[in-house]
Amino acid sequence: MSDPALGVRSLDLVNPATFVDNDVHVFWRDVRAESPVYWHEATQSNPGFWVVSRYADVQTLYHDASLSSERGNVLDVVLRGNDSAGGSMLAVTDGPSHRKLRNLMFSAFTPRALGEVVTNVQLRSTELVSSVVGAGAFDFAAEVADQIPMNTICDLLSVPLSDRRDLLQWNKMALSSDRADSTDLDALSARNEILLYFVDLAEDRRRNPGDDVISMLAGAEVDGVPLTVEEIAVNCYSLILGGDETSRISAICAVLALIENPDQWEALRTGAVDVDSAVEEVLRWATPGMHVARTAVDDFELHGHQVRAGDIVTLWNISANNDESVFPEPRRFTLSRSPNKHLSFGHGPHYCLGAFLGRAELRALLTTLTAQVTRMDLCGKPRPIYSNFVCGYDTLPVRFESG
Ligand code: HEM
Repeated sequence: MSDPALGVRSLDLVNPATFVDNDVHVFWRDVRAESPVYWHEATQSNPGFWVVSRYADVQTLYHDASLSSERGNVLDVVLRGNDSAGGSMLAVTDGPSHRKLRNLMFSAFTPRALGEVVTNVQLRSTELVSSVVGAGAFDFAAEVADQIPMNTICDLLSVPLSDRRDLLQWNKMALSSDRADSTDLDALSARNEILLYFVDLAEDRRRNPGDDVISMLAGAEVDGVPLTVEEIAVNCYSLILGGDETSRISAICAVLALIENPDQWEALRTGAVDVDSAVEEVLRWATPGMHVARTAVDDFELHGHQVRAGDIVTLWNISANNDESVFPEPRRFTLSRSPNKHLSFGHGPHYCLGAFLGRAELRALLTTLTAQVTRMDLCGKPRPIYSNFVCGYDTLPVRFESG
């Protein structure tokens, strides 16, 4: 779609191809300057929605009780009308029910509870990277990045090794696609497969509890009432959905950005820049989850626009993270950037439950690269992901050398 009358607002933010065919950073820069809040016109198949692009507005609205997550927190789902998991899955539950469920799940996500999982993340990174160093050209996405987040979440949930490949495939289809021709139906049936899988596993853990997050949820109560197997299943699904592709994309983006910015790679490799600071810049730079979606439950005014109860409101992290009023020279990859209060993990009550784990995965990767690799080269074009939600690549042909 390109309508000169709409000026900078002319890009179709529903169409996944928009994010591959355009320089979205130029688009967002113009939007922030000229139309920081605007109404994205309805199309034949979709209703319209509000687009919020400036850091300050996005950050404020993450806290605003006038916005609900219960109809969904991703644009595609909200445009279809409803999230069937609303009110039972953490990310799409509001208010006191959200707080109670979050407190319950949070106990499995403290740095202390995650100690062993994080140790395994480091071991897995070391093993995977050492298997590709000096081995010629390989796809970093398939050989390394694909293997870490899913296995980490599956460790948390004690998912049998033999089932992990299926889960990875379904999850890739549920959020985005390798192919430009993939349909909504493919995504829907992939989501169903994941849910059904976890219903079976939840029933099994009720009968045979172990030392894992599913068993913890299976034995837990909220207000004296046990969670149903469906509630357990959607919350396991939420961990996979929230934690797999986002982490995988950050890892791929990290390697690509380090190859494209050799001075930054050198600074990291020689210890001139701190790994934790590098992790934050990778997260800002990559912004794997481009937006979150909400639905207004009250009327309110925003930059002179009247938002009505029932309107869909989208908060664009990818734009906020490149807002030049907060991040000087935002399209410069600067590992030592400080302060770096990016919104890649969201903000407010729904702040990412897996943020500690997501950071730990990236830290393990960067630490391993600096320990084992001296030279990284690109060997082909990375393949972009088609999605209006996640942004990045799903292949990355590279070569790693040591010594
Ligand atoms: C929430 C991003 C890793 C589980 C969120 C939100 C964002 C986000 C933006 C807020 C959603 C909203 O406000 O509607 C990311 C990124 C990650 C990452 C960029 C990696 C780099 C993980 C991991 C897990 C996870 C590893 C779990 C294993 C969740 C859950 C929520 C969430 C359960 C919902 C929290 C709530 O509603 O209270 N994530 N995430 N995420 N994330 Fe992550």
